[in-house]
Amino acid sequence: MDNMQNIFRRELVDVQGVPLFWSIAEQWSEVESFEARTDDLLISTYPKSGTTWISEILDLIYNNGDAEKCKRDAIYKRVPFMELIIPGLSNGVEQLKNMQSPRLVKTHLPVQLLPSSFWKNDCKMIYVARNAKDVAVSYYFFYQMAKMHPEPGTWEEFLDKFMAGEVGFGSWYDHVKNWWEKRKDYRILYLFYEDMKENPKCVIQKLLKFLEKDMPEETVDKILYHSSFDVMKQNPSANYSTVSKEEMDHSVSPFMRKGISGDWKNQFTVAQHEKFEEDYKRKMKDSTLTFRSEI
Ligand code: A3P
Repeated sequence: MDNMQNIFRRELVDVQGVPLFWSIAEQWSEVESFEARTDDLLISTYPKSGTTWISEILDLIYNNGDAEKCKRDAIYKRVPFMELIIPGLSNGVEQLKNMQSPRLVKTHLPVQLLPSSFWKNDCKMIYVARNAKDVAVSYYFFYQMAKMHPEPGTWEEFLDKFMAGEVGFGSWYDHVKNWWEKRKDYRILYLFYEDMKENPKCVIQKLLKFLEKDMPEETVDKILYHSSFDVMKQNPSANYSTVSKEEMDHSVSPFMRKGISGDWKNQFTVAQHEKFEEDYKRKMKDSTLTFRSEI
């Protein structure tokens, strides 16, 4: 690719008040008019909340625990990232158009930007939320390795931007709260990364119930094994190692980085933590949603 410099590390562009990659903003009408199908399963998350993990689990469920079948392609091909349009590299809308049903569809869009066809078709949706502090840390490392993002600056600078919602896909606070509200009116299973860490089997069982699917315990155990952090980290179909180095540089920080809850303690200073917590209380006080920052 000749024009990599023109593609990467560009400033985010505002779409209806939400900062997105410049190329998504440019092609916004294509995303907005995306045609959901009634049997699509939407996987929605704020970035760095366990999207790849839940995607791998769901593809394993869709394939009855057959791990070999799930190695047919990279996770970003098996579960296309709907709104990701990067010229010459990716077009989630096109990928999905060419995909057979039933499709697993990934999005990071906040509720107000989700293409209306998902609501109209009453598609089932799975939302995964992760505590804000671990998301901020994970996002900081991801900004460094994934070149579609602008330069993150120092941790201190990045954290300020995160708190202000001036990062890709906007405010974490609005994202998690607004999806939480939507679950009252639509078929949304709202899950937490921390629960997945604590008791992944229970989460798989919840998924099966939501999908109205039965599965022998032996298959559930297989899914548990193949979706564990250590196994996914070694699996080229799940760990993003097949993406070009220009786009994602795993030597800066691997995509499968730590996969734990509470890593924020290794990153936040006491002063940063105090400031963060005070701001957090203000931003979250109007919601019934609660998080665990460690397990
Ligand atoms: P860390 O950077 O904290 O390690 P997303 O897929 O939404 O981009 O989220 C990526 C985060 O999920 C990373 O967090 C990654 O390590 C973690 N992750 C991916 N697969 C996981 C798994 N099987 N178990 C636990 N965490 C996982």
